[in-house]
Amino acid sequence: MDIANVINRIQNYHKGGFDPLTSKDKVLYGDSTKECTGIVTSTWASVDVIKEAYEKGANLIISHEALFWNRGDYTDWLEASENKTFLEKKKLLDDTGIVVWRNHDFVHSGIPLENGTYVDGIFYGLFQELGWEKFHFTNGPVLATIEIPETSVAALAQTIMAKCHFAGARIYGDTTTLVKKIVIPYHVLGAARAEISYIEQENSDLVLAMEIVDFTLSEYIRDTNMLTKSKTMLTFGHFNLEEPGMKYMITYLPKAIGTDQIPCHFIQSGDMYHYLIG
Ligand SMILES: [Fe+2]
Ligand SMILES: [Fe+2]
Repeated sequence: MDIANVINRIQNYHKGGFDPLTSKDKVLYGDSTKECTGIVTSTWASVDVIKEAYEKGANLIISHEALFWNRGDYTDWLEASENKTFLEKKKLLDDTGIVVWRNHDFVHSGIPLENGTYVDGIFYGLFQELGWEKFHFTNGPVLATIEIPETSVAALAQTIMAKCHFAGARIYGDTTTLVKKIVIPYHVLGAARAEISYIEQENSDLVLAMEIVDFTLSEYIRDTNMLTKSKTMLTFGHFNLEEPGMKYMITYLPKAIGTDQIPCHFIQSGDMYHYLIG
């Protein structure tokens, strides 16, 4: 089966429903008319992931994030400036013959459940990895809310690190703070008024965040924790938190493609960070 056909079948498996013209989900690199020899899923097609995919004999990487470091994966600016890292990564892709397809909007649009409904494939995969079965997706200022048996935020961080193979965690507020009710916001990149209001209203204990800035939600969480020893925030980074969803993808790819004859592997692109504790 050629790669274009594989991609087409995976697209059809998802809920979709968004405008393909504005979608980020495109073949980001390579010739998709080739026969597919194997598939690798990863949050990000980093240099190391490309090398490992090649070693596994796969020629299609399904990546959740951009290949060349910008939304839309525009490369004109990199070509014009002859960016050395761009040129080297491009050469690696040419030498290995790897095709990179971005699956972002499709997997977030939904994967089918047995009851006929669709659920965000990235966060469903995360919850599967963590054994959080009673999750509840919402459409408000946060992506999801969930209640777990009460534990300290530090103990929860250790559990998630072990299950998801993360190198470290960042905790906002006292590490012994007890948590039970968790909210997962969307990206918190700027103003967080809606999230702060929601957290107050829902009386949630823990924000499990992707990337986070210092000057909004982080300040609110720290002030609240200093005043009441309640509310805390835990972050592992954006790519880390989405990675289990890409791991989960290999469980349904054979069904989506309609054959189990194409080998599917997950490669963890891994932590953005190396942690030094002072
Ligand atoms: Fe993302
Ligand atoms: Fe995502």
